[in-house]
Formats: sequence, C-alpha cells, structure tokens
Amino acid sequence: MGEDRSVDIGAGIPMPMLGFGTWEISHNDTYAAVRASLDAGYRHIDTAYGYHNEDEIGRAVADSAVPREQIFITTKIPSRRIGLEDETVANSLTGLRTDYVDLWLIHDPPEGEKSIDLWQFFIGLREKGYARAIGVSNYSTAQIDAIVRSTGVTPAVNQIKWSPRLFDPVRLRENRDRAIQLEGFSAIRLTDLNDPTLVPIAEAHAATTAQVLLRWQIQHGVIAIPRSITPARIRENIDIWGFELEPGELARIDAMSTVVPASPGS
Ligand SMILES: NC(=O)c1ccc[n+]([C@@H]2O[C@H](COP(=O)([O-])OP(=O)(O)OC[C@H]3O[C@@H](n4cnc5c(N)ncnc54)[C@H](OP(=O)(O)O)[C@@H]3O)[C@@H](O)[C@H]2O)c1
Repeated sequence: MGEDRSVDIGAGIPMPMLGFGTWEISHNDTYAAVRASLDAGYRHIDTAYGYHNEDEIGRAVADSAVPREQIFITTKIPSRRIGLEDETVANSLTGLRTDYVDLWLIHDPPEGEKSIDLWQFFIGLREKGYARAIGVSNYSTAQIDAIVRSTGVTPAVNQIKWSPRLFDPVRLRENRDRAIQLEGFSAIRLTDLNDPTLVPIAEAHAATTAQVLLRWQIQHGVIAIPRSITPARIRENIDIWGFELEPGELARIDAMSTVVPASPGS
C-alpha cells in the first residue's frame, strides 16, 4: 500500500504515524518490550519523565542494532516539574542516552501564566537543539491558542486521549486548521475489543479489532502509540499496513462517539 507511514510535523521532520507507547510498563518489563518493538519494526517510542522508564528505554535503544537517529523519540515534562525544568531535561537526556529528543511535549497544561512561561522554556529547548520539535499534551484548543498568542510559536503536536467513544470531529478540525498534528493515546485500553461494531469490520479484513482501531485512527490522520508488553501484540499492532478501511466502515466507527462536540475554540 502506497500510503505515507510518516507525517511532516514541520521543518521537514518526519514523525512515524505509528509509535510504541511505554506508560505504566514496569522497570522489569520496559527493556524487553522496547527491544521487541524495535525488532518488530517500530521506529518511534513515546515516553515521559513521569513514566520513570527513560533509563531502560535508553539502554534498550543503545543495545539494539538500530541507530539512534533512525528512531523518533518523544518525551514529556509534567507541569509539576515547573521550577526544575533544567534538571528534568538533563535527567531525560541522560536516561535516554541521547543529546536530543525528536519531540518534547508539555505533559499537562500548567495553570494560567505558567503555561506561557513553560512554553517559552520549550521554545528555548528547540533553539538550543535539545528538541527537534516541541508540542503539548492534554491541551484544549483554547489553551493552545493562549500560548500561541503570547509567543507566536505553534506546537507541532498535541497528544490527547483518543478512541472511537471520544471521537470529536470539531477537535480534529481545530488542530488541523492550526497545522497541529494530533496524536491520540489509549484507544485500545478505552475500547471494548468485542464491540459489535468493530468485530464484523475486523472479520471483513481478516484483522483483529485492535488493528481496526489503529487503522481507524491513522486513516483519520491521528498518530497512534499503542503500548504492549506482549511480543505477539507488539507485532500485531504494527502489522496494520496491509488493509484499508472503507469510508463506510470509518463512519460506523465514528458513530460510536459519545462526545457532544464542544463549541469551537473551547
Ligand atoms: N500524554 C498523556 O497524558 C498520555 C496518557 C496515557 C497514555 N499516553 C501514551 O499513550 C500510550 C498508549 O496508551 P495506553 O498505554 O494508555 O493504552 P493502549 O495502548 O491503548 O492500551 C494498552 C493496553 O492494551 C493492551 N493491548 C495492547 N495491544 C493489544 C492488542 N493487540 N490486543 C489486545 N490488547 C492489547 C495492553 O496489554 P499488554 O501490555 O498486556 O499486552 C495494555 O493493557 C501510552 O503507553 C503512553 O505512551 C500518554
């Protein structure tokens, strides 16, 4: 299939549409899971200061045969680290055994003016070369507009909770209109994999419902970062390029949404 497996998030930086999530993977399991993901072909890893696993990820990347520069690494700084930003950055880079990350995100929106100050710090991170791209996570459109208004710099990515039940075309359009790449987390965890809408669609493509969820997300142009410690599932979740959902199937999955669209800009 000739579709793009990466998206340009600005300045010619390609971000793989599918990555490997690492939240809540225990210390003991992280190294093996990341090695398995790299062996399976993932070239994008999502972590965060708050996941306490950057060290194991750095070790797994260093021990793998895949060169660092071929792997897109995202990490995040949580708002509770305000005041300790430099220390947090040093910690993440040391743990990940790298001089830079591909994408650094504000993990959660700080209150009021602090959001603008932290975004200014992120702009500095990019200017100094510690981050190739910078973005946010768990931000509403209004919160994004506030930091852009104050700094003139638009986040490359907004990483938010995303699943069929949370499908929100207004949010999708608002991010797209601002040239912000949407990245969605937890679609598998938040969905019943035996859902009667998903099962027949999966059967029609000889796929699993988890694979259908990932296809649905990616065909909407939303980056997906499934997490698993199970080698067979790690491989299953990246084996999604051999089939394509029809427009009618996408619409049936969209209709699982329980979101009442927010008013624009909220
Ligand atoms: N920015 C944020 O605030 C934020 C918040 C949450 C998550 N995230 C990121 O997004 C990533 C993904 O979200 P998530 O970890 O919440 O959930 P997820 O990837 O939607 O789901 C993970 C769970 O689904 C299971 N699973 C994975 N693939 C499966 C498959 N093919 N079939 C059946 N079960 C499967 C895993 O089990 P096993 O491991 O037992 O296989 C695990 O229990 C995180 O790891 C993290 O990197 C970011």
